[in-house]
Amino acid sequence: MTAPRPLKPMPPLEPFHFYIYTFGCQMNENDSEHMAGLLMAEGALPAAVPEDSDFLIINTCAVRAKSVDKVYSLLGRLKRVKLSRDAKIAVTGCVAQLFRRDIMRQFPYVDLIVGPDNYAALPALLKKSRERPQSATAWHSEWQELPTGFRAKGVSAYITIMEGCDNFCSYCVVPFTRGRVKFRPLEHILAEAEAALARGYNEIQLLGQNVNIYRDPEKGSDFPMLLRTLGRICEKNWIRFITSHPRDFSPELAETMADTPSICHQLHLPIQAGSDSVLREMNRGYTRAQYLDKIRLLRQLMPDIALSTDIIVGFPGENESDFQQTLDILESVRYTSIFSFRYSPRPQTAASRNLPDSVPLEVKRSRLIQVQSRQKKIQQDLHSNQVGRIMKVLCTGPGKKDGSAYTGRNAANQVVNFRAQTDQTGRFVEVEITSFGPYSLRGSTIPASPP
Ligand code: SAH
Ligand code: SF4
Ligand code: F3S
Repeated sequence: MTAPRPLKPMPPLEPFHFYIYTFGCQMNENDSEHMAGLLMAEGALPAAVPEDSDFLIINTCAVRAKSVDKVYSLLGRLKRVKLSRDAKIAVTGCVAQLFRRDIMRQFPYVDLIVGPDNYAALPALLKKSRERPQSATAWHSEWQELPTGFRAKGVSAYITIMEGCDNFCSYCVVPFTRGRVKFRPLEHILAEAEAALARGYNEIQLLGQNVNIYRDPEKGSDFPMLLRTLGRICEKNWIRFITSHPRDFSPELAETMADTPSICHQLHLPIQAGSDSVLREMNRGYTRAQYLDKIRLLRQLMPDIALSTDIIVGFPGENESDFQQTLDILESVRYTSIFSFRYSPRPQTAASRNLPDSVPLEVKRSRLIQVQSRQKKIQQDLHSNQVGRIMKVLCTGPGKKDGSAYTGRNAANQVVNFRAQTDQTGRFVEVEITSFGPYSLRGSTIPASPP
């Protein structure tokens, strides 16, 4: 056996500016914050525009074919920036993990390819990339703690509690891009939450692909225990979490939500499809009836709970009657919002290997439009019932229109645009709802009552 070669010491990085493009989900947004933290610890500074940066990072999403197309077209456009200032380019995230070889072949000017389990090595890889292009897509079995000080988001602190996904829903590429499940130690989660609250963040959003199965790797505390502990240090603030898998959403978790005052009565519970045969082919692990039972329990415990979901239309074999059952779910649950997508076959997934993409594009398009227009009506209706109500809103910043317009979210996670006399960014305000559109509520702040 040969002794490992000592690593050649690298000179420190010179002062430089970086710019991060972030695609995809909240986990990617939080990873971009981690990467910014790592680079800033090396003395780097965020650039306001890509043209002024020496290091361009594209943090990518591979969930649908379109998400990958966007990355490739951006990479094409960045060649000019790269040549004009000799900037380094990194592709990180889910496309980096999945399509390393394609990127190397199609975009030879990319300097670094870093998968989601390798961000801790980013500064070292950047240094090494001065000599030759670098790539890192290996998996690590242990949780790797990353710097958490930098936040791109104004008022809501994202806190990752787990990595990876072991569910292997038959359509989904995430288990291949994010690897096997790993849980973050509870003490790190609580320390990050305390630091965020001390810095004035009024909302904590816990992140993971399937947060319901969380277990502290040291003491075994489960997700309800994590929430109860967090609820005690976060009494006056809001707690949300994403994503919950319906199969793993337990009655105990519903009870925890109901009796922990700081947890918003809001839940994203992706159903994906309304028909049992489609759910079975998707390998989701629940039936329509089981899903609806969970919704019933949630509403029994929290009559005011706001629910949202994800829907895929045009999964292989989805016939008209299956699809009608998806529309029917929208009517039975009456979600406050939905994210809906046309099925997109993804490499390595069971569905792409075993099931022909049988639903014609035209049919997928028409089903998506039907889902979205049905949901739009439901939202209009739900919004119309809110007129005249006074609600707590966390202001996220100025609105687009004029100096007195602000925007924010209520506990149900609905967008509320409102008028206020002074800038309320980052604060909780009381807003009286006066009108609405399909995607937002409108109103004005209630002046604070005199002391
Ligand atoms: N872990 C989360 C999020 C996964 S990705 C969850 O389980 O819900 C976000 C959403 O993208 C999914 O909920 C699904 O609705 C959609 N999606 C995933 N793969 C897709 C595919 N191949 N085609 C179309 N939509 C897809
Ligand atoms: Fe994908 Fe399913 Fe995992 Fe969500 S639970 S990330 S849809 S495999
Ligand atoms: Fe996309 Fe990866 Fe998130 S595929 S949705 S960025 S986990």
